[in-house]
Amino acid sequence: MTTSRAPARHFAPLAIGAPEPFRQVPVRLERMIHFVPPHNEKIRARVGELIPQVDVVLGNLEDAVPADAKVAARRGFIELARAHDFGPTGLWTRINALNSPWALDDILEIVAAVGAKLDVVMLPKVEGPWDIHYLDQLLAQLEGKHALPRPILIHAILETAEGVNNVEAIARASPRMHGMSLGPADLAASRGMKTTRVGGGHPSYGVLADPGPGGGTRNFYQQDLWHYTLARMVDACMAFGLKPFYGPFGDFSDAAACEAQFRNAFLHGCVGAWTLHPTQIDIAKRVFSLDPAEVAFAKRIVEAMPDGTGAAMIDGKMQDDATWKQAKVILDLATLVAARDPERRALYGL
Ligand code: GLV
Ligand code: MG
Repeated sequence: MTTSRAPARHFAPLAIGAPEPFRQVPVRLERMIHFVPPHNEKIRARVGELIPQVDVVLGNLEDAVPADAKVAARRGFIELARAHDFGPTGLWTRINALNSPWALDDILEIVAAVGAKLDVVMLPKVEGPWDIHYLDQLLAQLEGKHALPRPILIHAILETAEGVNNVEAIARASPRMHGMSLGPADLAASRGMKTTRVGGGHPSYGVLADPGPGGGTRNFYQQDLWHYTLARMVDACMAFGLKPFYGPFGDFSDAAACEAQFRNAFLHGCVGAWTLHPTQIDIAKRVFSLDPAEVAFAKRIVEAMPDGTGAAMIDGKMQDDATWKQAKVILDLATLVAARDPERRALYGL
């Protein structure tokens, strides 16, 4: 019993006339996925200014869009996609969940109208590989029908208990997979977690230090509610060559906590996070772009071990083949950032 196609057919298009899937996720800088409500005319009018400031513009059709604005959001997204040249900035949409009354028309209308400009469809509430297979097949049919030259990728939101259980099967479901985002709000509800926050910590989730020998104050250390899920998601994504992201941080008034959450995700392996408010764009840029000191140290490792083997000491710290690979991760990202951001190119000395 097997659950995937024969290896030789893995990259065969799923419909006549559909383009071949990518062999690997295209290399792009995606530090922030910036959410835009496309039914809001005022915000739509500012998309032109937004495009050069962010790595990805996402038209959100799902949660936070009221039921009576779902069609307006879909039409608004088509309008904004048509109205602009996005250049190196990605164009994504978050469609409604597959069990909703809107998902089918979201997919049919958007791919027909602006499929050639669309990079990624973000699919919410993914429970298992069957959700990916359905969208994969449907997108292939539409790509064939509309003669699209390149495949539209799928990005899954990991935001249900069943989805977390199936995270590896979701990651391996299709070569159309781009990556995954952790959705802490829906996941908290699905799991029965006792928090009403959108991402971040909780003041009551932590450990109390043991009492000292003479008693006295016992410190309470807040812990990261999302560590387990993030780690599972990062491993599943990286094992299959996909990109992991942190999702939303809902308290726009707490920039420090947003930055801490984004940085935990970044250090853990994530390449970006969602930005729901303009003030979060700079936070994401700062966090997901690397500290220049880190880049400088990575350069010294690579210079000390030109062929990536052996051992070297730098400032008293042992380096070997593994730290050379760590340094390569840092330098590859720095190169990608430098290509997009002249200020940081100078700071990195690249
Ligand atoms: C995002 O969609 C979330 O539920 O956190
Ligand atoms: Mg959600």
